[in-house]
Order: sequence, then structure tokens, then C-alpha cells
Amino acid sequence: MPPQLRPPAPLTATPAPPLSGRIRVPGDKSISHRALMLGALAIGETSIDGLMESDDILATVAAMRAFGALVTRSAPGAWRVRGLGVGGFLEPEDVIDFGNAGTGIRLAMGLVGSQAIPATFTGDAALRGRPFGRFLDPLRRMGVQVIARSNDRLPMTIKGPDITLPLEYRMPVASAQVKSAVLLAGLNTPGVTTIIEPLATRDHTERMLARFGAAIEFDTNEDGERVVRLEGRRDLKAQAIAIPGDPSAAAYPMVAALLIEGSDLTIESVLLNPMRSGLIETLLEMGGDITITNRRALGGEEVGDIRVRSSRLRGVAVPPARAPSMIDEYPLLAVAAAFAEGTTTMDGLGELRLKASDRITVVAAGLAANGVAVEEGPESLAVTGGTAPIGGGRVATRFDPRVAMSFLVLGMAAPSGVTIDDAGSIQPHFPEFQSLMTGLGAQFEKAEPPAA
Ligand code: S3P
Repeated sequence: MPPQLRPPAPLTATPAPPLSGRIRVPGDKSISHRALMLGALAIGETSIDGLMESDDILATVAAMRAFGALVTRSAPGAWRVRGLGVGGFLEPEDVIDFGNAGTGIRLAMGLVGSQAIPATFTGDAALRGRPFGRFLDPLRRMGVQVIARSNDRLPMTIKGPDITLPLEYRMPVASAQVKSAVLLAGLNTPGVTTIIEPLATRDHTERMLARFGAAIEFDTNEDGERVVRLEGRRDLKAQAIAIPGDPSAAAYPMVAALLIEGSDLTIESVLLNPMRSGLIETLLEMGGDITITNRRALGGEEVGDIRVRSSRLRGVAVPPARAPSMIDEYPLLAVAAAFAEGTTTMDGLGELRLKASDRITVVAAGLAANGVAVEEGPESLAVTGGTAPIGGGRVATRFDPRVAMSFLVLGMAAPSGVTIDDAGSIQPHFPEFQSLMTGLGAQFEKAEPPAA
């Protein structure tokens, strides 16, 4: 049900006992989308192990089926995709509805942008409210036709030309979604599509394209910019892909264990890609007791087991250049900062205003409601901790799952707990979150909606 239509589900987190033991988190969301999509374009049958099975990923499954790929599930997390070959997508019979999945829809639009078939996309009310202009811009320059509501909003129809034009694109913003959409369009484009990234973003698309046999090269130029070159119109070969644990999902139990005294928790088999590890780097600088063992390769990426013991944290200045490697983790870092001695400054956060909610404003308001000293700037947050925040506040989550989960972590560690106005956004995004956390001892109780 669209988030604005379902009744809100307020939830209170009260102080939790120490977290201990060994856990696993679901497969990485970014890699799950990409494995399904490249599987749908490859020749042969791709097998995927450890696929995240949230609504966002199931929307990508449905889209790949709508384009003609055969996608089947044999066991939890175990999927097979029989691909159609690069350029082999069929015209979908119906509108493709991605629900709340911003990454899935953008990457799928890139895929279909270089195929001469029309496809009409829509999403839930939240996604229909978000502008797509900056990401359609490079696709239009490749010759893709877009018919959209005003201000480039969903629903919209995308149709590739007979032959897409290769593009050399210097990224005006640091966005892995924009980069990936252009690269995926480049797959069925003759010639070389080039991306220049002044600030490098997560590179799962590049790594997985290389794995599937695409003609792709990436390195750093003399100005320190990342350059990716992809030669299109080459066949992709089906692969067996094992998906590492999602570091953005592991982040919640990890921070909870750091904040709750006496905790000693190990999260196994988590993706350690440096473009995703900014939160761990920052928490280490803050004095977090985090150790990584059993480093090994899995699915073309590095994984390891992360052991976290409760720690007294201190405030740090997080460099703006680190933002792409922890872009989804700032709400949670802001929660950790509320327990750290001194001030944590986070800068270069412009992209955060364009996520599922305006995360700078929403996080600042949530912290303030719990007695935490916080300052909001146009592209920054400064959080001053010290003693544990009092908690006891009610947080408006604006249908944003990462905000909802971050503030439940605050409630697990704050003496007076925290109530979030709606936990309903979490289930479609990270279905295992509540059972994982309550399995570790978290106490979540349904709360009363506010009096009308
Ligand atoms: C993603 C990229 C990030 C991130 C999103 C997933 C991806 O967005 O916020 O949750 O899978 O490529 P950007 O486009 O800002 O990099």
C-alpha cells in the first residue's frame, strides 16, 4: 500500500541489554539489483546466491520479467536468471511499477534507454514526487526519448533510439545511480561510453560488468578523477554470483553494539568495498572498538567478519570527500555522534537532501526532539554529544526507512527510549530488521498514534 495511505505504525524502542553473538545480514541491496539486471542481459543462466528479498529488489525481479527475462527462485536468496542478450529486451505489456525503489528504477531506465522499445515507469507517491531530471539529462544526450510529467516526474515513458550515441560524461554530482544508468545504457551503444568522476562513488556496476565479460576499464587520471570506459555491444556471459552481506544493513546492529555497554557482537560476511566503508572508517576514528577478521573474496568483492565491542566515542570532523562511501549512513552516524564526547561535524551532505527524505532536516529535527544539541547547515550537520542523550522524544520519520531504523537504534541506547511515528517504511526495505534486532534483545513496542 502506498506509504501515505496506510495507517502509521508508531513504534517505541526502549533500552536494550548488551548485544552479543554472531549474526548475518541480508545480501547487499546495490549488488542485488545489479546481479538481476546483468543476469537479464547475459547469454545463459546466471545463478544468484544471497539475493536481498526486499520489496525494492522484488520490484527489479518483476521488471526483468516484464522485459522478457526468465527469473526464478529455488530457495530463500537463491535465484536464477535466464538472460536475453544485450539489446534483447522485449516491449513490456504493462506499466512497470517500482514502488519505492529509487535505485532500481533509475538503473532500469538506463538499461531500457538503449533499446528501441517504449517502457512506461511509475512508482509510489514518494517516488512520483521526486524529480528525475539530473539523471535523465545524460540519457537524453545519448538520444533517449523521455515523455514525463512536468518537472521530469513519474510516470514517464522511456524509449531508446535505433542507435544510442556514446557519451563522454563528466559527472556534475557524485551519484552511483546516475553513473550506473549511463553505463547500463552504454552496454547497447556502439563505441565507447566514458564517465569521469571527480568524486568516486560505489563501483559495483563496473566490477560486475567486468565479471560478466564486458569491455570495461577503470582507473584514476592525473587529476585524481576516476575514469570508466565501456565499449558497448559486446555479449555478456552468465555468471554464478554470491552476494556479500549489506554493509548498510550491518550498520544498525554495529552502531547499536558500539553504544550499548557490555556488547560484543560479530557480523559475518559483510561487504568491505572501500566505497562503502566510510562509516566503519569514521567510527574507528571516533574510538570505536571494531575489528575485521576472516577477510576473503566473495562475488568479485571483499568481505569480512566485523567484531564490534561497546566503546566510548569521541566527536570527529568527517571529511566531505568521504560522503559517497557512507551516503546512506549519515542518519545513523548522527545517532552515534549524539553519544560521543564533543562535536561531530559532517560536511558535503548536499545529496542527503535528495534521498527518501530531506535527511539533513529530518535527522536534525529527530535529534532535537530527543534533547541532542544539533546544528543544521545547508549541506552540513553538527551534532554535540557528551552524556547519553535523554531520548523520550517522538520522531517524524517522513516515510524514510533509514531514518526510522537509525532512531530505533537511538532508542535502544537512550535511557528514556525513543518513539518513531511510523515503522511501516522499514518492512519493504529491510524486512528482517525487526526480527534481527529483537533477536539480539532489542525491545520494540507498538506505540499509540498521536491524539488527533
Ligand atoms: C546506490 C547509490 C547511492 C545510495 C543508494 C544506492 C546504488 O545513491 O544512496 O541507496 O546502488 O547505486 P547515489 O546515487 O547518491 O550514489
